[in-house]
Amino acid sequence: MSDLSVLSGKTYFIRTFGCQMNLHDSERVSGLLDSCGCLQASAPEDADIVIFMTCCVREAADTRLYGQCSSCKSLPPSPSGRRIVAVGGCIAQRDGSGLLTNVDNVDVIFGTHSIAHVAELLADAFADGDLHVRVEEIDSGSATDMPWHRETAYHAWVPIMTGCNNFCSYCIVPYVRGREKSRDMNEIVDEVAGLARQGVRSVTLLGQNVNSYGRDHGSAPRFAELLRRVGDTGIERVYFTSSHPKDLLPETIDAMAEVPSVMPQLHLAVQSGSSRILKLMNRKYTREQYLDLVHQVRDRIPHIALTTDIIVGFPGETEENFEQTVSLVDEAKFAQAFTFIYSKRAGTPAAEIEDPTPREVIQQRFDRLVKHVEQTAFDYNQHALNTTVPMLIEGTSKKNNDVLVGKSPWNQTVHCPVPQGCDSSSLIGRILDVHVDTARTWYLSGESVGDPR
Ligand code: SAM
Ligand code: SF4
Ligand code: F3S
Repeated sequence: MSDLSVLSGKTYFIRTFGCQMNLHDSERVSGLLDSCGCLQASAPEDADIVIFMTCCVREAADTRLYGQCSSCKSLPPSPSGRRIVAVGGCIAQRDGSGLLTNVDNVDVIFGTHSIAHVAELLADAFADGDLHVRVEEIDSGSATDMPWHRETAYHAWVPIMTGCNNFCSYCIVPYVRGREKSRDMNEIVDEVAGLARQGVRSVTLLGQNVNSYGRDHGSAPRFAELLRRVGDTGIERVYFTSSHPKDLLPETIDAMAEVPSVMPQLHLAVQSGSSRILKLMNRKYTREQYLDLVHQVRDRIPHIALTTDIIVGFPGETEENFEQTVSLVDEAKFAQAFTFIYSKRAGTPAAEIEDPTPREVIQQRFDRLVKHVEQTAFDYNQHALNTTVPMLIEGTSKKNNDVLVGKSPWNQTVHCPVPQGCDSSSLIGRILDVHVDTARTWYLSGESVGDPR
């Protein structure tokens, strides 16, 4: 039986890589450590416990972990005189103690399904100085009933499901996060209602493919129903991610169009504009079906901010296939796109496909694609010129303390000078109307109108 009292008063620092799922898992780890009397530190050098929440979706994320872990060796001694280094998240789930072949200064390793045990593992490592590893079976319980520590008072990540059943041929996620497991709908709705009562104004519902929410409970997907119920809790802004095109139902588009608190933003990962490549990727839709969905969504929600993920250089991608991706970007007019160069992931089917395309060619394609995305993002933002947008204030600009930074309902970044006589820190989490006079590729800016609310 672990003696958790050794954790009381210890300081901890968590560095999170990867997606929002990991961000939320870090909030759970933080919540657990807070409940054991640990204190959050603002830098690794001030921490007795340094935790890396890792990602292995692309090779670069792996390499970054090894560097950061090793750099802990050269930190000054920790406040308590003994520093524990722990590795959680997707690399830990994939490699377990195999991680030690790449890093040698790790004390605790815990997988994506072992978060509930992190306090015991850390306490045991402090007590006996040994390595403690816990990597659960991939489909054992979920961590949604644990305490969590939110980084911001105005926004919350709310996982509605974990895992993924889609097995896109390039992707490691199903192997490190397991199969889809949906949370109970009433539990999610109660959680969001509770957050709204606490003053949270915006939530993002999380899942690798929220459109299949509820399917593992033996029914047809119930995401549209969930959206309507969450939208009815009093929360002001509801976002969700990610949405697989093959499962986006008309009833979900209807819910987005009809529920005022569901924000006009949709992340619909396309990955490629070529039907040939989409088939090799196992995405189960064609270019034409994707574009048809885009038109359906735009018909119902005219100025929707459509965002996407795109992979360049999937094995065997030809110049012509790539051109189709570029033309799809132009046609879909994305408000933003996350672009990635394909990264070979051992154990995935795509890793077996030979690819003769030189790296420089892929890089040139990537650079060309980024230019198109920047143009569509710029064009999208022009619609906001001379309109007034309600900005949810997140803080001040890193470059200028006198400039507020926040988000529009379309999830655009908005800048505006701190109104005269206002203290910027007291404005965080409030909504301020901004009359937009400048629209750039990555942000809007303008003057405030009226008072924050
Ligand atoms: N479930 C989400 C979806 O399908 O929209 C995506 C989750 S994944 C964490 C985020 C993005 O990483 C994917 O949409 C894909 O574009 C990218 N990605 C995944 N595997 C990749 C790989 N092997 N190489 C490059 N990019 C990859
Ligand atoms: Fe990966 Fe595809 Fe699942 Fe997204 S839907 S997590 S890209 S396997
Ligand atoms: Fe990375 Fe794991 Fe998310 S591999 S992208 S942190 S699910």
